[in-house]
Amino acid sequence: MTNSLNGQKTRVGILISGRGSNMQALIEAAKNPDYPAEIALVISNRPKAKGIEFAKENNIPVKIINHKSFDSRDEFDQKLHQALTEAKIDLVCNAGFKRLLGKDFVEKWRNKQLNIHPSLLPAFKGLNTHERALETDVKIAGCTVHFVRFEMDEGPIIAQAAVPVLQDDTAETLGARVLKAEHLIYPEALKKVANGLVKVVGERLVDKSHCQEQPALYAPAIKSDQ
Ligand code: GRF
Repeated sequence: MTNSLNGQKTRVGILISGRGSNMQALIEAAKNPDYPAEIALVISNRPKAKGIEFAKENNIPVKIINHKSFDSRDEFDQKLHQALTEAKIDLVCNAGFKRLLGKDFVEKWRNKQLNIHPSLLPAFKGLNTHERALETDVKIAGCTVHFVRFEMDEGPIIAQAAVPVLQDDTAETLGARVLKAEHLIYPEALKKVANGLVKVVGERLVDKSHCQEQPALYAPAIKSDQ
């Protein structure tokens, strides 16, 4: 995308609604002077979101835009857009943001808005992904960073991580394993986008750095004596 050419960092706005551990991972990554993006704004739609504290402690400007203060989704979206443009944000990262955004907003930020989802999309879109992964009895779970489209959990995929499902997993233990992977891939995905290494062509992601052949991931692992 943007500013890597003129030597300026890409200005990122993060949208949160709760705990904010992915936001935290992005803020930590951006502390590296070589990281191509800076976190210029955090917006929470919930005044009591836990993540707000961490952002403030790290001197990131925080705005609360409470969806309950607006009569319609459109008005809320417009306020969000205004706050992002006033802060000269180049890229938006949804990080546990629990509001669906309207078509207008999504189109304004097309290919400039990222989301992280705790499953290997297109499997398990929506809520309760870990419960459903366990019910379905998949052996590999994971997470996905993608560009946002109007349809929920749709959009060109920037990065994914695969995580094994273990025999005795509960939604909590599996969720915790996936979350660790989320914290690794979100900063990597943002870095790629901010460095201009990926572009969307006809709803597919073209990623010039993604060309190395890698061995398959197996779960359960295959041992040579079996
Ligand atoms: C994460 O699992 C993310 O994938 C999903 O919501 C959760 C948010 O967690 N979209 P946190 O607020 O980043 O800790």
